[in-house]
Amino acid sequence: MKSLLLLSSLLGLAISDSLPMDEFQAKMKELNDQISSSLISNTDEKAFVDEKISEIEANKTKVESTDGSPIVDDDAGYTGPYAKEFYEGDILLTKEQLSSIVSNPHSKRQAQWTFNYPNNIWKGAPISYYFDRNFPSNKIPSVRAAIKFWESHTCVRFQENGGGRARVRFINGNGCYAMIGKTGGEQVISIGYGCDWIGTIAHEIEHTLGVWHTQARYDRGNYVSINAWNVLPNQLYNFNTQAQSYTNLFGIPYEFGSVMHYAENDFARDRSRSTIVAKNGYERFQHSMSNYLPTFYDIKLINTYYKCYDACPRKFNCQNGGMQDVNNCNRCKCPPGFSGTYCESISTSGCDRYYTIGSTPVTISATAGSNGLYNINYNECALHLKPATKGRRLEVTVTTGAGMSSWNCYGAGVDVRVHSDPAMSGIRICRPNTRFPAIYSDTDRMVLNLFSRINYVSFTFSARMI
Ligand SMILES: *[C@@H]1O[C@H](CO)[C@@H](O)[C@H](O)[C@H]1NC(C)=O
Ligand SMILES: [Zn+2]
Repeated sequence: MKSLLLLSSLLGLAISDSLPMDEFQAKMKELNDQISSSLISNTDEKAFVDEKISEIEANKTKVESTDGSPIVDDDAGYTGPYAKEFYEGDILLTKEQLSSIVSNPHSKRQAQWTFNYPNNIWKGAPISYYFDRNFPSNKIPSVRAAIKFWESHTCVRFQENGGGRARVRFINGNGCYAMIGKTGGEQVISIGYGCDWIGTIAHEIEHTLGVWHTQARYDRGNYVSINAWNVLPNQLYNFNTQAQSYTNLFGIPYEFGSVMHYAENDFARDRSRSTIVAKNGYERFQHSMSNYLPTFYDIKLINTYYKCYDACPRKFNCQNGGMQDVNNCNRCKCPPGFSGTYCESISTSGCDRYYTIGSTPVTISATAGSNGLYNINYNECALHLKPATKGRRLEVTVTTGAGMSSWNCYGAGVDVRVHSDPAMSGIRICRPNTRFPAIYSDTDRMVLNLFSRINYVSFTFSARMI
């Protein structure tokens, strides 16, 4: 067996030649000390982070309740889908990966997307997987839905009980975790307590496809600072970065809303405060890190990484951030709010709607989901807003709302897509009973993408051209 599982004693797996637990912990401590000294000792960074944190705290006091009910912190008690024992929270490293990271945390062979590339990707045959004998049957539909998500958006294929030596075993482990890329032999994906929703499972599968975390990109310093002083002291190694020399970003932009990005307070000592702070110019994405499903760019990364586009002989020139559909080369896959073969039109199918907005504020109401709904997949409705005068921008505020309130929008919410690039995820609002500061589009277009899989969410927006 070329690569070996760590923590096999913890997982109770009968794998020979794995790293003993004490040796693993010693290596993690060594790594933690290295990261700790580089992050904690940076006094300039501390001054910046402290200032930003007080700004974030001050801004929180400006958020009003729309219905008089108290603004609850949905996050209280929720620790996120991470198991604390693992590298970056949910990554089970091979012995080879771990030793390369520990021996030189900021250089060496580790790579965000490309460790051992292309030998670490699953090529030529469907990814064989099976459910552990003790895997709870009520979680199986969510796992199959996450697999179907990746199959429907990429050329990656899976086969349940496909046999073979290299395969994935879904286990009901202690938390949610996976290994990076194809390691050879059998490798696990743990869907433990609190992990069995489609976004988390799709995240763990993306690790298995070979992808590291977004905030571990070597360029993360342009977008975020780490509030190391609020990170649990023995968890600082989770904020390591990958080396540029061995990383291929495949042209994918840094996206706060990537499903591979940590949430803003992961690994916090005080979970009411952030561990990741958006840099100047990106403050509006402070509360929109991570996501409820893989984004367009998460999908594009896999399609590029797995050379899915090679199967399409004729390149399609998709518009408005669309990308060629690798499962049907004669059309494009469109971001929310767009449709047509080339994504050239505005979508009005299903509950999608289109508005032209003038200078006088207009009221727009919309709902996604329904009372009592409990689905694995999300219902989505895209409201496409255009200013009456080309080239002008849009201002949107939430005036009232009702329905599901959930940590990081895993149940329901709205993604306010503000970028000039329609493929980029935007600003998420997960608490319909709160009134947030106005949101502005970067260009003459904005898409409000409502989504729900648990109950419903409804919002009333006030929109105007500015
Ligand atoms: C605080 O709110 C103001 C006004 O909405 C905004 O300009 C600023 O970027 C916010 N700061 C942070 C850190 O969120
Ligand atoms: Zn992860």
